[in-house]
Amino acid sequence: MSKNTNNVLVKRKLGKTDIDITPIGQGVMQFAGGHTFLKFLYNKMDDNLSNRIVKTALDSGINWFDTAEAYGGGISETKLAKGLKAAKVKDEEVILATKWSPVLRRSKSVKKTISDRLKYLEPYTIDLHQIHNQMSVSSIRKQVDAMADLYDEGKIRSVGVSNFSAKNTILTNDILKERGLTLASNQVNYSLIHRNIESNGLLDAAKELGITIIAWSPLQMGVLTGIYHFDENAFKDKKYGKKIMIKRHLNKSLELMKEIDQIAKSHKVTIAQVALNWLVNYHGDTVVAIPGATKPKQAELNGQAMNFNLTKTELNDVEELSREFL
Ligand SMILES: NC(=O)c1ccc[n+]([C@@H]2O[C@H](COP(=O)([O-])OP(=O)(O)OC[C@H]3O[C@@H](n4cnc5c(N)ncnc54)[C@H](OP(=O)(O)O)[C@@H]3O)[C@@H](O)[C@H]2O)c1
Repeated sequence: MSKNTNNVLVKRKLGKTDIDITPIGQGVMQFAGGHTFLKFLYNKMDDNLSNRIVKTALDSGINWFDTAEAYGGGISETKLAKGLKAAKVKDEEVILATKWSPVLRRSKSVKKTISDRLKYLEPYTIDLHQIHNQMSVSSIRKQVDAMADLYDEGKIRSVGVSNFSAKNTILTNDILKERGLTLASNQVNYSLIHRNIESNGLLDAAKELGITIIAWSPLQMGVLTGIYHFDENAFKDKKYGKKIMIKRHLNKSLELMKEIDQIAKSHKVTIAQVALNWLVNYHGDTVVAIPGATKPKQAELNGQAMNFNLTKTELNDVEELSREFL
């Protein structure tokens, strides 16, 4: 992947690590569609389709993928590894992020479950291991120490968290510093219509401490494509849970979609591409995004959101237009 002076397709550091990532990564939660809680949102996906999504994401310039234990208990991880193997990608050519599921579990399960993560992702290694949320029954110190142990044992290249408050993000970073590490990232819901990290202290803390914010649901599950605002048929074939998640955002985001559509047209790109481009550029290098996909074309378009520059005025205009979602 080439670099250029226009900040297009230029990789960034993940936190203060030496890991280089593209501003957009590929989320692969959808690979576990039809399983566990995801059956309410996404259909089951066959290997042929997930392989094509992986290949298309790579071809569009994306160099990293985000998965998790919670996405089908290994199903998403296994399909991701299959897709990378089918694309003949070597371990050193790709960056992988996964997550430990803390819900009602103790910190000792961090170490107990790492062999499963590595088995499902085999032959690929874990560049970023994240604590998925704040729902463990163990203290944050114990969880973070267990993650740091995995780092010391050479099983993971960096430690991240997800859905952590600003306070617990700072605490995690402090604990890691005692172990000679820093917190690489916090993965949270961040999109043009969900901007609470800008007002709750998390973004400021991330900027100050050099922690990458990984934006999950950066398109708010598809709302920010604009297709649902302008085409009733777009709901056809969508699962019940997905419809509910999308419909509740439509009215309040209609005006924003119309405005962004104008900017998108002037760049000959889509509304979704403007929404992603703003997210990964407005705050400098701090925010990266991991849009999910159920079609190769979506992965292609999302990767291509790294291929153009919004002007400073456009970045500021989009910020102003979406200020009600702060
Ligand atoms: N850490 C956490 O707690 C957490 C929580 C949620 C997600 N995540 C991660 O974040 C990733 C992304 O989140 P998400 O999938 O919930 O939300 P998202 O990326 O905002 O939305 C993805 C959905 O939007 C639609 N879409 C994507 N690109 C499109 C395009 N170019 N044109 C038209 N439609 C497009 C697709 O919907 P259809 O399939 O309906 O076409 C796709 O499934 C996940 O894969 C996962 O890795 C993490």
